Amino acid sequence: MSDEPLYLKQNVQVEPLIDRWYAWSHLLPPATAARNLTERHLKIMDSYITTPQVHASAVKNPKMLGGPFVDYGGKRVDEIKALRDRTKAERSHLLELSKALQDLDTCLRAKAKGYSLQPLYAEVPEILKGYVELVYDLNNHPSFRLIESLFYRSKYYDRSAQSLMLSLTTRDDRPFVLSTPRLENENLVDLRIPFDSPAVDRLFQAKSSPMRFGEMKEMLGLNGNGSANKLLRSFLTEEPPQPYQPYTGSGVRWRYFGHACILIETGGVSMMFDPVLSYTYESDISRYTYGDIPDVIDYVMITHNHQDHVLFETLLQIRNKIKCLIVPRSSSGALQDPSLELLLKNAGFNNVVGMDEMEEFKDRGVSITGLPFIGEHSDLNIGTKLAYLVKAGPHSLLFAADSCNIEPKLYEHLHREVGDVDAIFLGMECDGAPLSWLYGPLLTQRLERSMDESRRLSGSNFEQARSIVDQFRCKQAYVYAMGQEPWLNYIMSIKYTGDSRPIVESNRLIEYCQQRGIGAERLFGEKEILLQ
Ligand SMILES: [Fe+2]
Ligand SMILES: [Fe+2]
Repeated sequence: MSDEPLYLKQNVQVEPLIDRWYAWSHLLPPATAARNLTERHLKIMDSYITTPQVHASAVKNPKMLGGPFVDYGGKRVDEIKALRDRTKAERSHLLELSKALQDLDTCLRAKAKGYSLQPLYAEVPEILKGYVELVYDLNNHPSFRLIESLFYRSKYYDRSAQSLMLSLTTRDDRPFVLSTPRLENENLVDLRIPFDSPAVDRLFQAKSSPMRFGEMKEMLGLNGNGSANKLLRSFLTEEPPQPYQPYTGSGVRWRYFGHACILIETGGVSMMFDPVLSYTYESDISRYTYGDIPDVIDYVMITHNHQDHVLFETLLQIRNKIKCLIVPRSSSGALQDPSLELLLKNAGFNNVVGMDEMEEFKDRGVSITGLPFIGEHSDLNIGTKLAYLVKAGPHSLLFAADSCNIEPKLYEHLHREVGDVDAIFLGMECDGAPLSWLYGPLLTQRLERSMDESRRLSGSNFEQARSIVDQFRCKQAYVYAMGQEPWLNYIMSIKYTGDSRPIVESNRLIEYCQQRGIGAERLFGEKEILLQ
C-alpha cells in the first residue's frame, strides 16, 4: 500500500476530554476540577442513571437549555453507570480533594473569627496541608489561597485523564458539552494523548502540512490494523487545502469568525481574539473557518475565563500557529479564579504571557493595551479578565468582550487615559445565567435562590452599552459575543427570539447609534472590514 503524505480533512472535529467530559477550563486546575467532578459530573450521572427519561424530556424543552441534563435520549444508561463507577474508582483522590476543600471552608466558617489563623493550620485537612495559605480579608472574612503551581505538580493534576476524540463533522448540531459526557462509538477515534504532547501540534498541522499515515499512526500510538486505524485513515485526504491569503495592504483588515473571535491583520502583524472556530463544511450560514486563518498568528488574546472565550478545542488545534498567547494575569489563588497562565502552560502552551490592566505592549507599529473588564462574573472576586485596546496606525479598536458597565466612571477614567476609540466590540448578553450555573460546584454552602438569581453572568444592557459608546465617542459599535452562531450551541446553549432581552437591548443600541451617524450592527456569522 502506498504511503503518500496526506492532509487531515478540514472537517475533522476534535473534542478534548478529561475523563470523558468536555475539557472546559475549570476541568484542568485540580481544585476546580475536583469540585466539578463531585458537584456537577457525578450528580448529573447519578440523576441520569435513576431517571433517564426525565433527562430525555428536559433536553427537548427549550426552557431547560443548558441545564444539567444528559443528552442521550434516555439511552446508554449502562455506559453512563460504568463511567460513573470507573470515575469514582480511578479518581478517588479527586473526590477526597473536593471534600477537603469543603471541610476547610466549613472549618474556617466555624472557627476563624478574626483571631490569628495560625492555630487553624493544624485543622487543615491532611491532603491540603502545604497547598493552602489561610487568609482574612480586611473585614475578617476568612478564606484560603491555593498554591496553584504546586497543585499542578501533584497527583491531582493527572495528564493521563486527558484524551482527544476525533470525528468527522458536517453540521452545527452538537449536544451541550457541560452536561453530557462523551461516550465512545464506532465513528470516533479516541486518542489517549495528553494535551501537552507535541503529537497534538503535529497532528493538527496536518490540516495544512501533510504527513504519511504510517508516521501518524506511530506518533499517535495506533499500531496494527484495527478499526481505529481504518477510521483515522478515512479522516485523511490527498487534497491540499486552499492556501491562506494574508492581508498585505497598508491598512487594517479585521474578520469576524463568530462570537468573540476576531482576526486582525495589519502591517505584517496578525492578532486573534478569543478563538472559537467552526469547522469547514457545507452550510447555509456563510462563515470563516479553520481554513481561513494564517499559518502564523503573532498574538492570540484571551479576554476572560469563560468556556465560550477559552475554548481548548480551538486553542489546541491552532497552538502550532500561535507565537504568543496573551492572557489576563491573575494569581490570586482563589478557587473561583484559577490562573489562566498556569492552566495554559500546564496544557502545553509554551508561549503564554500574562498582561495586567493598563499594561501596554508594542510590536511593529501595533500597540495592545489591557484595560479593566468589570462585571459579568456574579460579583465574585475574579481578576482573570481584560478588555483589549488595539491601536494600528490611525485606527483604534476596543474589544470589551462581556464587560458589563456597572460603573460608568471607570470608562471616564479610561477615556482620560486612552482617548477616543474608533470602534468598540461589546457583548450584550444582558440576561446572563445565575451564579450557580457556572460557579455552583465551587460553592460549599447553599446559596439562597433569590441571591443566586440576583447575581448573574450578565453583559451590558442598552444604557450601559450606550454610555461606553458615548464616552469613547466611537465611530462604529459592534455587538458581538452573543452566542448566536449555531455552531457554538454546544458551549453556549442559547436560543434567542426577537423578544429576548439581549436582542431587544442590542437593537436599541444599534438604533441609537444609527440615529447619531455611528455605524452599528450586531455581528453574526461572518464579517470583513478593511480600514485604510
Ligand atoms: Fe463571559
Ligand atoms: Fe461570553
